[in-house]
Amino acid sequence: MASSDKSYYVTTPIYYVNDAPHIGSAYTTTAGDVLTRWHRQRGENVWYLTGTDEHGEKLLRTARANGVSPQEWTDKLVREAWLPVLETIDAANDDFIRTTEKRHTERVQEFWQNLHDAGEVYKGSYEGLYCVACEEHKLPGDLEEGTGEYAGQLVCKVHHRPVETIREENYFFKLSQYTDKLLAYYEEHPEFVQPATARNEVVSFVKQGLQDLSISRTSFDWGIPIPWDTKHVLYVWIDALLNYVTAVGYGSDEEKFERTWPADVHLVGKDILRFHAVIWPAMLMAAGLPLPKKVFGHGWLLVGGEKMSKTKLTGIAPAQITDHFGSDAYRYYFMRAIPFGQDGSFSWEDLNARYTSELANDYGNLASRVAAMVGKYFGGVLPEASAHGPAEQTIADALAAAVATADERIGEALDFQGGLNAVFDFIKLVNGYLTEQEPWKVAKDESAEGQARLATILYTAAESLRAVAVLLNAVMPKSSAALWDSLGAEASLGELAKQPVQDAGRWGQLPAGSVVTKGAVLFPRLEERAEG
Ligand code: MSP
Repeated sequence: MASSDKSYYVTTPIYYVNDAPHIGSAYTTTAGDVLTRWHRQRGENVWYLTGTDEHGEKLLRTARANGVSPQEWTDKLVREAWLPVLETIDAANDDFIRTTEKRHTERVQEFWQNLHDAGEVYKGSYEGLYCVACEEHKLPGDLEEGTGEYAGQLVCKVHHRPVETIREENYFFKLSQYTDKLLAYYEEHPEFVQPATARNEVVSFVKQGLQDLSISRTSFDWGIPIPWDTKHVLYVWIDALLNYVTAVGYGSDEEKFERTWPADVHLVGKDILRFHAVIWPAMLMAAGLPLPKKVFGHGWLLVGGEKMSKTKLTGIAPAQITDHFGSDAYRYYFMRAIPFGQDGSFSWEDLNARYTSELANDYGNLASRVAAMVGKYFGGVLPEASAHGPAEQTIADALAAAVATADERIGEALDFQGGLNAVFDFIKLVNGYLTEQEPWKVAKDESAEGQARLATILYTAAESLRAVAVLLNAVMPKSSAALWDSLGAEASLGELAKQPVQDAGRWGQLPAGSVVTKGAVLFPRLEERAEG
């Protein structure tokens, strides 16, 4: 198969549906959506997967506490909360996998049956500590002294809740055999775990030596039964990780699987890095399958210095933000304000300030001023830039540089902030250019030369906006479409989503004669938007 046929395959973690999503849970999905829209706009085949993780003890306990069966609980939460949030944040995923679907459960059973048959799995007795909120076996180093109501007990460092002791007969995966193989793999593929802090953490964890992994439970039955011993259900994580292959045809549609796997990027929060960068590659090695190309561990959205969490009920629902600011501003804010890979605190004040100064003033105002001037001075028909000079060339050159930076930062480095900085610095430059050129004064000069200057200034600003619409489409699809429409670009250049992003810096694409209209205000002032 030609390598160009291979899909650029990006995944988010699949989410526990013990409660509704908050902005922390939507963070990975937002980033993945920006990344995949960017690559689609490069003209690549893209496959973007998200979904829900529906088995395990945490889910079972939540369903019981609500007096319903686990399946009823997951069906309700997926329908009422997890699917709708994708619309709220304007995500364009290609598929949504649920781990209770047959396409998943059957393939998971086959996968583990094969590893069992290959001698990778054995029966033993397990005694250890477990955090149900993390759904994770814990080592003493993962715990700390509790405080308040948990004083005197050891608690999980993520959820600050006591862990539970498990004593059971379990099946084990021979994870310990993969210690050296994994270390060799990290060494040969330094890009496999990113950013560098995440990679260092993983490498030093594996260097301590890995223990075999308990992969089954018998004390409850909400999980996928182990095919060769159905008293056991599979440990939720080794069921969940397989979603990345079951959703793209593993064991059912070889052609699709070949075209899609391995994943180009698994996006994950730093709390679940070990599962993705240690256990998952070991499982794949055991099965003889290719490894994902990259696991990127991003930071947390914090509340009061702690990870925003469903378990701790500290979440803000995405719709609380989008109802007021719209989905574009939502996406922009999280991608611009927090360096991807670091923790960040959400703040209404910061969102408000950025909305007003960066979106409404710097960007939205520029778009409406330019459309208004083309309307006023040229009857809404974009004039020709017959007097393109050094000031215009500076803009054209800056655009080419901004495009190269944004493409490298967003498309390759997953540095969404860096990419947006480049685009918004360019917007600032165009604003500065208009301030210097003063087209409203030039308009008073009725000589042929004056009119040529005026035409050139407005063409330059409109052509800059043409490129901005292309560059921001992955982050803010709605306002970019509105801008595209206002520039009358579709008639000559075609659909916005089809404009190759890497080519956005080629100067002069928007033809003179385009019909420019004022259109809707891209980012209305908040008091106009606020309800009641
Ligand atoms: N079900 C597992 C993942 C299985 S993937 C095979 C899980 N689910 S989760 O719902 O708890 O978390 C899903 C993702 O959301 C994780 O990447 C986690 O880091 C992310 N986030 C949850 N809270 C978050 C913040 N407060 N901030 C940023 N991301 C956070 O783990």
